[in-house]
Amino acid sequence: MKPSSRRAADVRKKNGRVYTPRFIVERILDLADYRGEKIAGKLVVDPSCGDGAFLSVVVERYCRANANLGAARLKAELETCVRGIELDPAEREQCVRNLDAVALNFGVQGVNWNVVCADALTFDRWNGQVDFVVGNPPYVRVHHLGASFDAVKRFEFAQTGMTDLFLVFFELGLRALNPRGVLAYITPSSYFNSVAGKRLREKIVADNLLAKLVDLKHRQVFDATTYSAITVLTPCRESGSATEYFEFSDDGDALTLIERLTPNDFYVDGKFYFSTRRNLRFLREILTFRPPKNAERFAVKNGFATLADSFFIGDAAKFGFTDFTIPVVKASTGVWSRCLYPYDATGRLLSWETLSAVAEVKRYYEAACERLRQRSLTNPADWFGFGRTQGLKDVARNKYAVNTLIRDAADLKLTPIPAGTGVYGGLYILTDVPFETLRALLNNRDFATYVSLLQKYKSGGYYAFSSKDLKAFLERQFVKAQGLTPRSS
Ligand SMILES: C[S@@+](CC[C@H](N)C(=O)[O-])C[C@H]1O[C@@H](n2cnc3c(N)ncnc32)[C@H](O)[C@@H]1O
Repeated sequence: MKPSSRRAADVRKKNGRVYTPRFIVERILDLADYRGEKIAGKLVVDPSCGDGAFLSVVVERYCRANANLGAARLKAELETCVRGIELDPAEREQCVRNLDAVALNFGVQGVNWNVVCADALTFDRWNGQVDFVVGNPPYVRVHHLGASFDAVKRFEFAQTGMTDLFLVFFELGLRALNPRGVLAYITPSSYFNSVAGKRLREKIVADNLLAKLVDLKHRQVFDATTYSAITVLTPCRESGSATEYFEFSDDGDALTLIERLTPNDFYVDGKFYFSTRRNLRFLREILTFRPPKNAERFAVKNGFATLADSFFIGDAAKFGFTDFTIPVVKASTGVWSRCLYPYDATGRLLSWETLSAVAEVKRYYEAACERLRQRSLTNPADWFGFGRTQGLKDVARNKYAVNTLIRDAADLKLTPIPAGTGVYGGLYILTDVPFETLRALLNNRDFATYVSLLQKYKSGGYYAFSSKDLKAFLERQFVKAQGLTPRSS
């Protein structure tokens, strides 16, 4: 990267500068119902307005809806009703220029735009007055916050986990609203299930704030690898009002209403999930199922983490010896190879004396000594072992390797692994349930649906799942398949 583009990337990271495409702005304003004649006199604020992606469309809609007012009145109303906050002076200038250009299209000139160069974290002058808060707040992870850290940590929504700047923009946006106001943002969808998003979720549920939600799922509208959601919050809702859940059509920019939901549907075990009510009921059954005491039939664990697979994994030709090697399967592909396994039958690390007694093994290790020592090791003296100890204790047991990324049922790779062999690059299942039963539980559309409902989006249209997710599914579906009565917590 050239120094200038690296500088630009740094500024982007620090200020969370990502620009919103026009069609997203249009859909967000539609969802907030910022359109038509009723927006006359309504105050709209973008608290992180950048160069004016939202405010430009706001001005266009305002001018179109109020074209009959005449240039002088329209100018006065734009100065009162359209407002922005932007930290970066150059962005603020560009925003003003962009808004001038839009207004000029409607014959309005010389607008004294109420776009302030300020820090939205401390700017409270308009609190309680605003009809519409809209925007794409900055996404800045806690470790890039720098001088803003203390200001951020004063917010209620920043009290848990590894917070992110966009979470506190929800809080400051809600404070800006008047009692009948509407907030509509596009943000990362990570707040559905992150520890950092806990307080925001709790507030949304406690006050029944969520009027509309669009999960963009795998669709990426920014150049960053961010999975996004559009969230519309309205403080003034009758208790029991539903949340309208939308998705984008696969190939277009139109929204489809999928379902009207309540927190009883979308708030499961403290996290947010969005789909049809039927799917969410199925998900809730699994996530809240607790197997009867001592009746658990499955353990799901992570395979080896050598932190140097290119050293430890290979074939006989690569190693030039077979001592201390075992067969190993890569769970993500189901492909077998061999693994240099410097452990005894109980999973305890062998001594360097034992290993180096075989000249070829000693030579193989010594050629890579530096690289192995550079791994982040719990005990540096164990430089000739794997980076982590996971998966070692179960080498002596029969198990089933399974991949952790799927698009649909056909992507699942379930590989039986006999005792004495290892697993890396994925998970393994320990169970006394026969292989055919296990396969029937997993190789079906229900499992793929369940994994997609977990909303762990990955590039290429894949969904991820964890060992905990897989265990929850297996325990619940096994009991169901046996015709026993499942017990939910
Ligand atoms: C994700 S960009 C969005 C810009 C514009 N709203 C859009 O959608 O294209 C976020 C903007 O927030 C600004 N910003 C970052 N921290 C801010 C703060 N504390 N107060 C106000 N603006 C801030 C950045 O400079 C950047 O222009």
